[in-house]
Amino acid sequence: MKYIIAGATGFIGQHLVKRWLLAGHELIVLGRSVAKIKALFGEQVQALTWDELTINYLQHCDAIINLAGASIGEQRWTSERQQTILSSRTQTTQCIAQLCAQLGAQAPVFFSVSAIGVYGLQASLPTQLPAPYDEDTVIDFQQAPDFLAKVARAWELAAKPAEQAGARVVYLRFGVVLAKEQGALPRMALPFKWGLGGPIGSGQQPFSWIALADLIGIIEFLLANKTISGPINLVAPECVTQKQLANTLGKVLHKPSFMPTPAFILKLVFGQMAEELLLKGQQVVPKRLLALGYQFQLPTLEKALTEIYK
Ligand SMILES: NC(=O)c1ccc[n+]([C@@H]2O[C@H](COP(=O)([O-])OP(=O)(O)OC[C@H]3O[C@@H](n4cnc5c(N)ncnc54)[C@H](OP(=O)(O)O)[C@@H]3O)[C@@H](O)[C@H]2O)c1
Repeated sequence: MKYIIAGATGFIGQHLVKRWLLAGHELIVLGRSVAKIKALFGEQVQALTWDELTINYLQHCDAIINLAGASIGEQRWTSERQQTILSSRTQTTQCIAQLCAQLGAQAPVFFSVSAIGVYGLQASLPTQLPAPYDEDTVIDFQQAPDFLAKVARAWELAAKPAEQAGARVVYLRFGVVLAKEQGALPRMALPFKWGLGGPIGSGQQPFSWIALADLIGIIEFLLANKTISGPINLVAPECVTQKQLANTLGKVLHKPSFMPTPAFILKLVFGQMAEELLLKGQQVVPKRLLALGYQFQLPTLEKALTEIYK
C-alpha cells in the first residue's frame, strides 16, 4: 500500500513509519522540512513539504493521515502559543481536506487526527467517574467550553469539506497515548522513579488513555475495514482516575505512589495548561470500536503499563 503521513517526524509518526516500512508499504512523509525527514528516515521514505503537496500525490495513494500539530504540553499556553497550537492543526488539515474535496469519492481515505478533548472537560466527582462520552455524544461545533475543545472542534471542522465532497474521512479522537520513551508517560513516570510519585490535584479527575500498540492496531484495523468513516474514540475500554493511575504506575514500577502534587502548585507553574491537561479530564469510551469488533491488546491500565515496562 502507499500512504502519505503528515507530522510523521513526531512521537506517534515515527512508530507508524517504522512499522509500515517493515510491512513493505510505500511511504510519503509530509512535513515542514525535508532535511528533518531525511535525517530521521533517510531514503526509505519520500520526503515532501506542505507546499509541494498536490492532488497528483493523493490520486496515487491509498490513505493519508495527518498527525501534524504543535505540541500541546511542551510550553506554557501564552495566547501566541495557543494560536500556534490551533493553526498548526487547522491549516494542515484544511490543506489536505481541500485536495481530497477536489477528488470527492475518488480521494484516498483521510485519517484526520483529533483528540478526546473534542467532548470538553468534565468536573471531577468525589466518589465515581462522571458519565462517559462516546461517539454518539452531541457536540456543538460552533462553540467550545475550554481551549482543548476549541482546538479539537476547529480541527475536525477543518476536515469537513472533504467529507462533504464524498471522501471517506475518519476522525481519530486520540486519548493520552502511552509508550515507554515518548509522549506523556515518561514525564508522568519521572517523579515515581525518584520515589516522589502520587496523585495530582484531587486525584478524582478521569484519565482516558490508549497504549501505543493499540493505537497502531486500531489505525490498521480501520485501514482494513474500508466502510468505516466518521468519529472513532481511540481510548482503552478502562478509564481510570488520576489516583488509580498513580497507584498502578507505582505498583508496576515498584515505587511509592502516595506523594500528592497539590493543584495550586501546578496552576502556579503551568497556568491554564495545568487546569486543562492535568487537573481535569474526561471519561471517554470506545463505543464504536467495541461494536465493530476491535480486540484490544491492552484493555486495562495495569496490563498496559506492565507490558510497556516489562
Ligand atoms: N501523543 C498523545 O498522547 C496525543 C493525544 C491526543 C492527540 N494527539 C495528537 O496526535 C498528533 C500526533 O501526536 P504526537 O504525539 O506524535 O505529536 P508530536 O510528537 O508533537 O509531533 C507532531 C508533528 O507535528 C509537526 N508540527 C509540529 N509543530 C508544527 C507546526 N507549528 N506546524 C505544522 N506542523 C507542526 C511536526 O512535524 P514536522 O516537523 O515534520 O512538520 C511534529 O513532528 C498531534 O496532532 C497530537 O495533538 C496526540
